[in-house]
Amino acid sequence: MTQLFHIRTFGCQMNKHDSTSLSQILINEGYGQTESIDDAHIVLVNTCTVRQKAEEKALTLIGRLSHLKAKKPDLIIGVIGCVAQQSGMDLFTRFPYLDLVLGPRNIHHVNRFLSQIKEQRERISSLDLACELTPFPKCNGYLKGRVTSFLKIMEGCDNFCAYCIVPFVRGRETSLPAARVIDQARYLVTQGIKEITLIGQNVNSYNVKNRALPTFPGLLKELDTIAGLERLRFTTSHPKDLSGELIDLFAGSKSLCPHIHLPVQSGSTKILRLMNRGYTRDQYVDLIRRLRKTRPDIAITSDMVVGFPGETQEDFEDSLSLIEEVKFDNLFSFKYYERPGIKALQLPEAIGEKEKQRRLSILQDRQRGITLSKNRLLEGTIQEILVEGPAKRGGGQLTGRALGNKVVNFPSRADLKGRLVRVKIDKGFQNSLLGELVDR
Ligand code: SAH
Ligand code: SF4
Ligand code: F3S
Repeated sequence: MTQLFHIRTFGCQMNKHDSTSLSQILINEGYGQTESIDDAHIVLVNTCTVRQKAEEKALTLIGRLSHLKAKKPDLIIGVIGCVAQQSGMDLFTRFPYLDLVLGPRNIHHVNRFLSQIKEQRERISSLDLACELTPFPKCNGYLKGRVTSFLKIMEGCDNFCAYCIVPFVRGRETSLPAARVIDQARYLVTQGIKEITLIGQNVNSYNVKNRALPTFPGLLKELDTIAGLERLRFTTSHPKDLSGELIDLFAGSKSLCPHIHLPVQSGSTKILRLMNRGYTRDQYVDLIRRLRKTRPDIAITSDMVVGFPGETQEDFEDSLSLIEEVKFDNLFSFKYYERPGIKALQLPEAIGEKEKQRRLSILQDRQRGITLSKNRLLEGTIQEILVEGPAKRGGGQLTGRALGNKVVNFPSRADLKGRLVRVKIDKGFQNSLLGELVDR
């Protein structure tokens, strides 16, 4: 009988991509994937630890799995991802029924570990941060029905922003050789993928550390020549490493979409310095000006943290004035939380929970208004949409994304999945746009 596995994924695009890779590795080995946790012989939880809430969610799920194990003693339970890396063997103490603890850079060994667990019923942990990048497995047909895919081009982070745990759980920056990236991109196109998002913690510094060529703009130029690859995106980029050459590509590339996620984190230069971000408010605003000059229709999204230690009311107001000045298309904002090992633990002047919540609510409220007015500005325009399939809420609507990454729904009964179509926008909402098909 085919052994079935079930994966639950928390966290960012890197984790989502790792879960996809893991599934493909397991399917290539002869396992089957199931959406039902009760039917599974192997349950894997891919965890995130960037904020405490993310970690708690994963730990709660792992806690609940004890009942499943009690019912099915042969069940193999594994914890992978960033909590696995951070807590390591401690997870075995806290959850004695766990079989496998696997750091994010060790997932390509999964088949070997599963065999060992089955044969010897021993627990295994693998947490080597110096491991090479997980190779993207080729698994024909796995992406059937999908038109977009992630492609991991680098792993790890060397920036050590004072609030961030990622460099501790993902290790040092390592880039995948360009020939492998291009080979993978070509393979994805053969699998029906039309849009690729290159991912990494800081894609701008691709190949910079190992002094290899091409650097990130060079890689984008090479990918731009792949026949059948309609759209190229990337995330995340760090403002301090955004080069003029990369900005220019927003005007000069055939496939690169006019959207950039450029996390700012704060509008106060004082706080940016404490955060170890490596740029000032003015330098950030100047990057935005140059991006918009090069590509006026570029969509810009960002991340912001409120309540970082030492953030005064004035610093917070600098963040508010920054979002009014830049007018991001969308903003992901978070209350600052302490994480183990981060530099910010050494800073005085912690901000109380209530005050952090107050600031977050104000910021999010302002941004909601900005997002809505930016979406309304698109009413009456014609947007190119890559059709991804039927809209979530059904109703005879199809859904896809505009070049600026906004979700666009439109009524159509035709089978347009994977096609680029033109849609006239009738209505801009908070989280999506509604339009009608202009032609095919
Ligand atoms: N490499 C990416 C993603 C980092 S994690 C980048 O550089 O942007 C995603 C976001 O989580 C960060 O941009 C930051 O806004 C937020 N974040 C990270 N650590 C945090 C912490 N300790 N408390 C609150 N938010 C945090
Ligand atoms: Fe974290 Fe900063 Fe690295 Fe992003 S660049 S992963 S925020 S340390
Ligand atoms: Fe979370 Fe790890 Fe991503 S901590 S945000 S899953 S890199």
